Amino acid sequence: MATAFGTVFMPEMARVDFNGQEWGPAAMVPSDQLVLHPGAHVLHYSSTCFEGLKAFRHQDGSVHVFRMDRNIARLAQSSRLLALPEIDEAQVGQMIRDTVARFADEVPAPPGSLYIRPTHIGTEPAIGKAAAPSTQSCLYILVSPVGDYFAGGATALRLLLEDQGMRCAPHMGMIKSGGNYASALRPITQARAEQQADQVLFCPNGDVQETGAANFLLIDGDEIITKALDESFLHGITRDSILTLARDLGMRVSERQLTVDELLERAAKPECEAALSGTAAVLTSVGTLIHHGQEYAVGSGQPGPITAKLRQTLNAIQWGEAEDRHGWLTRI
Ligand SMILES: Cc1ncc(COP(=O)(O)O)c(C=O)c1O
Repeated sequence: MATAFGTVFMPEMARVDFNGQEWGPAAMVPSDQLVLHPGAHVLHYSSTCFEGLKAFRHQDGSVHVFRMDRNIARLAQSSRLLALPEIDEAQVGQMIRDTVARFADEVPAPPGSLYIRPTHIGTEPAIGKAAAPSTQSCLYILVSPVGDYFAGGATALRLLLEDQGMRCAPHMGMIKSGGNYASALRPITQARAEQQADQVLFCPNGDVQETGAANFLLIDGDEIITKALDESFLHGITRDSILTLARDLGMRVSERQLTVDELLERAAKPECEAALSGTAAVLTSVGTLIHHGQEYAVGSGQPGPITAKLRQTLNAIQWGEAEDRHGWLTRI
C-alpha cells in the first residue's frame, strides 16, 4: 500500500539558525521536533517560505539533485521579499548536499525520488511585530522519499477555471510562502466538492495564470503557450526546464498573456493539449476545463503525446538515461 506523497520523513535534517546577527553552524538534528516559542513570528505573521526539489538515483547507484542552484536562488528571493534574514546560499547548498548524502541509500529508484523541502521561518518571539520583520530565523532541510506520483496510472486532470478570484495577493505570487497556499485552499476545496475538479486554474480577469501548486502550459501543435513571468505567480523550475527542452526539440515557445477565451478556443482543436508542470507532478495532462458550469475537453480529453514526450525527455535527464546537456544535475 503506497503512502501519501510527503508523509514519510527521514529521521534527521540539517538545521541552521540566524541569531539576529549571523548564521550559526549547520547541524544534523532529529527531524521529528522543532521547539518554537508560541509567540514565534512565523506562527502569527506567516514569515515562512520553502522550496521543493528532488534527488534521483541513477542506474550506477549515484545520487543527483535536480536544479539545486535554481531552487536555492528562489528560496533566497522568497526570503528577501518576506523580509526574513538573507540566507547564505553556499551554506544552504552544503546543507542540502549533507542531508541527501546522509540518506543516499534511501533514495528510491525511478520513478521514485527523494523529495527535498528546505524551509525558512521567522522564529523571534515577538507578537507585537505585525509590521516588522523577525530578527531571528531557522532554516532546515527536511527530506522525504516519494514514489511515483501517478501510481495507478496517469489520467488527464479536470480543472475549474476561476476567472474572478486570485490564488493569492498579486505581489506575493512569486514567493513560495505558506500563506499563498492557505489563501487558495477554500476555492480548491470547493471546486473538488462541487465540480469534482482536481485543481483550480486561477485566471484573474480572464488572464490564465497557474493552479494551486503547478504552472499551466497550453500545447497547440508545435507551439507551447504559457504566461510570461511577472511577480503575480510562481516561477516554476519545471516550467523553465520544460520550455528549455521544448526549444531543444524545435518547438516554438510563446511566453505571453493567454486569455480564457483564447484557451477555450484553442482547446477545441482535436490535437490541442494542456499540462500542469511542477516538481511533484513533473508534467501532467489536463483533459477537461470547467467554465461557468460547462465542461470543455482539451483536444481528445485524454493524456496527449507531446505532453508524454516532454515528460519523458525531462525524466530521462533526471534519471541519468540522457545526457545532462544543460548542467542541471548536482552529483552528491
Ligand atoms: C503555486 C505553484 N506554482 C508552480 C509550481 C511549480 O514550481 P516548480 O516547477 O519549481 O516545482 C509550484 C510548486 O511545485 C507551486 O506551488
